[in-house]
Amino acid sequence: MVHGLRIIDARVEFTVNPLGIDESKPRFSWILEHEERGQYQSAYRVIVSSSLENAVKGIGDVWDSGKVNSRDQVIKYNGPPLSSFTKYYWRVKAWDSNGVEGDWSDVQWFETAVLKPEEWSGKWIGGGQLLRRSFRVEGSVIEAKAYVTGLGYYELRINGERVGDRVLDPPWSEYDKTVYYSVYDVTNLVKSGENVIGLILGRGRYGPVSPNRAQIPGLKYYDEPKASAMIRIRLSDGSVITINTDESWKCLVKGPILYDDIYNGYRYDARLEPYGWDKAGFDDSNWVQCSVVKPPGGRLRSTAAVPGTKVKGTLKPREYYNPRPGVYVFDFGQNITGWVRLRVRGSSGVEVKVRHSEVINSDGSLNVENIRGAEATDTYILSGRDVEVLEPRFTYHGFRYAEVTGYPGVPSIDDVEAVIVQTDFESTGSIATSSKIINDIHRITWWSLRANLLNGIQTDCPQRDERMGWLGDAWLSSDSAVFNFNMVKYYEKFIRDIIDSQRDDGSIPDTVPPYWNTYPADPAWGTALIYIPWLLYVHYGDVEILEEAYEAMKKWWSFLNSRVKDNVLYFSKYGEWVPPGRVFSAEYCPPEILSTWILYRDTLTLAQIAKVLGRGEDASFFTKRAEEIRDAFNRVFLTERGYYSKYTAPDGSVRMLGGSQTCNALPLYLDMVPGNRVNDIVKALAHNIEADWDRHLVVGIFGAKYVPEVLVKYGYVDLAYRAVTQESYPGWGYMIKEGATTLWERWEKLTGAGMNSHNHHMFGSIDAWFYRDLAGLMTLEPGFSRIMIKPNIPSELRYCSASLYTVRGLTSVEWSRVNDELVVTVTVPVNSTAEVHLPKLGESTVVREGDKVLWSGGKVVEVSPGVLSVKDAGDRIVVEVGSGRFIFTIKTIN
Ligand code: BGC
Repeated sequence: MVHGLRIIDARVEFTVNPLGIDESKPRFSWILEHEERGQYQSAYRVIVSSSLENAVKGIGDVWDSGKVNSRDQVIKYNGPPLSSFTKYYWRVKAWDSNGVEGDWSDVQWFETAVLKPEEWSGKWIGGGQLLRRSFRVEGSVIEAKAYVTGLGYYELRINGERVGDRVLDPPWSEYDKTVYYSVYDVTNLVKSGENVIGLILGRGRYGPVSPNRAQIPGLKYYDEPKASAMIRIRLSDGSVITINTDESWKCLVKGPILYDDIYNGYRYDARLEPYGWDKAGFDDSNWVQCSVVKPPGGRLRSTAAVPGTKVKGTLKPREYYNPRPGVYVFDFGQNITGWVRLRVRGSSGVEVKVRHSEVINSDGSLNVENIRGAEATDTYILSGRDVEVLEPRFTYHGFRYAEVTGYPGVPSIDDVEAVIVQTDFESTGSIATSSKIINDIHRITWWSLRANLLNGIQTDCPQRDERMGWLGDAWLSSDSAVFNFNMVKYYEKFIRDIIDSQRDDGSIPDTVPPYWNTYPADPAWGTALIYIPWLLYVHYGDVEILEEAYEAMKKWWSFLNSRVKDNVLYFSKYGEWVPPGRVFSAEYCPPEILSTWILYRDTLTLAQIAKVLGRGEDASFFTKRAEEIRDAFNRVFLTERGYYSKYTAPDGSVRMLGGSQTCNALPLYLDMVPGNRVNDIVKALAHNIEADWDRHLVVGIFGAKYVPEVLVKYGYVDLAYRAVTQESYPGWGYMIKEGATTLWERWEKLTGAGMNSHNHHMFGSIDAWFYRDLAGLMTLEPGFSRIMIKPNIPSELRYCSASLYTVRGLTSVEWSRVNDELVVTVTVPVNSTAEVHLPKLGESTVVREGDKVLWSGGKVVEVSPGVLSVKDAGDRIVVEVGSGRFIFTIKTIN
């Protein structure tokens, strides 16, 4: 019996059975399996059906792609226009490399939400903290869906139940350009008879109270909370009724929430909670009529395929301190984003307070200096009714420690837990090695990324009076993010946020959405607009985002280009950021080196993007501009002592600076260094790390990303490994030795007021280096259709394994050294190929694959199934393989 290709994971917009998408031409994707090695897809067919019955029968009455000869596994819907509020069923099948037709996939579905703006019938209403509407349903309910948004945050309730598990929804955006709404299946909550819909509104970023409102003059939004929603109910007689937000809703102006603010916290008086307000039978006669208010202005977009912010777990206190009577400090053992949940029994009017911090003083009391203006305090006034479970809404804190005061009695361990709030990402990658330090760095990076990929953007930090989408931080750790999580839809949203923030002159801000006025961005921050879409293309094969962002990228590029002087970009705001001992300093890399290097990279990337999009003229233009910028870069910054010791600034002043690790590594990374100088600059860099700094990286956030990569590129694997795993200052290992459970903002352990968050993800760029340079997992062609597996093996590391669920399926590599033998096991997904670069261990290397001798005596001996070619490449043997699992054993016979 012949087994064809089996479809195991079919998705729409990278999501399994999404409810309420609004893409007019959604993308379909699938993962394939096959019994044989070396298999690929020679053709596919996708059908979209209007009913389950048709899909089961294989009838694509909405769209039938027909058999398409192609290896693509992410394709776009290309049928007649889809209708709003409609459930479609679909299936896919594929033909293998021998032309064998596989079975249809299981029936999958997707449902559309609002495809035309005029179909959104909810008005924008406001005027209260609690909003309610009761209505009757005559007849029996077949299905009901809620489409809802509320700014800054909302909580939706139907008949006394909280709807959905998203918290801090909707994700942040530039509200006058885009407002996100979420879609919920509420079929089980709506019944025939009387029903009540309730909305609780919070301020979030739309009407922040403080501290930023007072401190930042450019703060853009300050308005009272508002909401818009529709509930569509389909009845058994086929009719559809829609309940919209409008003037018929009732509002409670002053409710139990006395205060809510993302920085300062939440203040709740449970005595003021109108008991049963979100259920039928409640008397709302003393509530006022809600008012129809001015819409925020932005286009409504669905979050259906964008992972939402959710409660992902809880932590019990690991230790507690009791610095003073009545003051209880709990240590949750891990710096997280979220809040504290308390169980309390006390009398009405008792006030219980929770404060949060990342660090504590030696007496066990909270140290809140480094969270600056954020009060991070949640307060509850008890109702006195039974046991009360207290947790905040519409705020979050970055903390490891929490202090509880005012608690009636002594809180027990059972009464206190930390609630972990994170984006609900699909986890796609993992890595483990024989080095505890590397595993620890990976672990604290994971926590920092999870803590900061929140609210639909990538914030710098989750705790202090900032929490902004700083673009520099975002792109620096984006490679690490895509190795660990499925980021495609999340980053597409973030890129749209950047596009939304762009001004007519092409400038974009440092912080997106631009809740602060930080225009124009430092070039090394703004590059996120070009870097992240390109990463999405490379990692996921996502061409759509390149198309969508291309014009905005060009405008930003032109803005920067208009500021160059003799092809050098002197414009900079921050430069090489947070090097040892400083927030920034030209010594670690003069800002104009960084800015010009970034402009060069942006220009090169734009040339590549133009090529992908078939814009030949643009491609040649950018290629030529890149060369001019590179030449200027070398003319101005390259001296006999490297990049660079002495140069004349535009104001005529002569600057003397030592060639730093960062400024020598950057041009090496992009192959900008003239051929005859490469050697001495590599040597100078290695010497600086090895001899001058005793094998430490002395860099800020840019050097931290590129120096390790450059060392490996030029063969200094052991030096790179040693520098990265240093346990003495400065280094990641030092943070860990000092007890960090998330990455610090600074190399120093600082706990005073100022710039020293204990949870910044930007130094987390190193995690991608573990995947790419140690495990050796890379993509050669977009979307891992062609993979490169090229492990680098430091003498201090015994084994390393990593796996990644790509858009083509699972790929993995595992290498381990036992005595003089190296075993490298790789997995290549169906429909991909891989170049496996195996290190030669010595002069006469023997390579086996399974039980076959592949290579011996300097030549190919016997090729096993799935192996496409074997080549000698100097210090490596390059084996090209098709799909499957391969076990290579490398041995040297001396
Ligand atoms: C943020 C950084 C950011 C920087 C830019 C800081 O306040 O926390 O992470 O990149 O400002 O200057």
